[in-house]
Amino acid sequence: MFGKLFAHTTVRALVAATIVIASGGIANAEDGDLARGEQLYALCVKCHMADGGGNSEALAPAIAGMPVWYVEMQLKNFASGIRGLHAKDTGGLRMYPMSQWLRTEADQKAVAAYVASMTPVEPEKELEEEGDPARGAGYYAVCSGCHGAAGEGNQGMGAPPLVGQSDWYLFSSIKKYRNKIRGSGTGDPYGVAMQGMVGTLADEAAIVDVIAHIETLSQ
Ligand code: HEC
Ligand code: HEC
Repeated sequence: MFGKLFAHTTVRALVAATIVIASGGIANAEDGDLARGEQLYALCVKCHMADGGGNSEALAPAIAGMPVWYVEMQLKNFASGIRGLHAKDTGGLRMYPMSQWLRTEADQKAVAAYVASMTPVEPEKELEEEGDPARGAGYYAVCSGCHGAAGEGNQGMGAPPLVGQSDWYLFSSIKKYRNKIRGSGTGDPYGVAMQGMVGTLADEAAIVDVIAHIETLSQ
């Protein structure tokens, strides 16, 4: 057991040393080096766009200004195949290979820090259905326990902010949790929790209503 522990520690130390050497000794690479992050973001532009506002045609959500902990968590989930490998997860299957381009934890942290530093982009309305925000507020009562009354998110619960996210992506994510396409990867307790939560939304009309309520929230 100790042998394993030591071996692991040694590997980590070696990896850390290599990163420092490879990055020219940047001391704060661990905390997410912004310049390196900006460089790496070139890999993301094609789908998430230069301003990080996302692109529904690429199925890529808005990510500009998302909290660094959430971006990092999701990059790790994709990289390890916890998210994005379900055969019916068209969007996830596009993002999964991209996550493999970030070779080290330092690179994941750096690009996450850069994404978090970007100015959020006001989403355009893309869903054709008109939801009822008043009915949606009723449905949202259960969501606010984790996502916050103002949709601001809660790191302790692993729950991302929902305000400022595009309506089409909220819709597609909720549907994917409901159809067990997102959240069914091995070792995804947060995804499983969300699969349970969307059970409170009986049908597509309820999903559209809750999204209409989320759109009334401001940060
Ligand atoms: C080939 C297109 C493509 C590229 C390039 C790409 N992504 Fe994505 N990304 C997607 C798609 C599609 C999704 C949505 C997956 C889903 O629907 O579950 C996504 C999802 C994400 C999410 C999850 C957002 C959330 O709200 O859960 C993050 C974070 C993310 N991408 C970051 C990045 C970063 C950082 C890069 C560059 C290193 C990148 N992506 C490159 C297509 C791409
Ligand atoms: C028990 C806590 C909890 C509750 C209650 C909850 N959520 Fe979540 N939600 C989470 C967590 C944790 C995640 C991140 C899951 C993951 O990594 O896939 C999440 C993710 C999401 C996402 C994906 C966001 C993104 O950027 O990819 C949406 C949309 C969402 N929740 C909507 C809702 C709605 C609508 C409700 C109420 C019906 C709700 N949630 C209730 C914890 C919760």
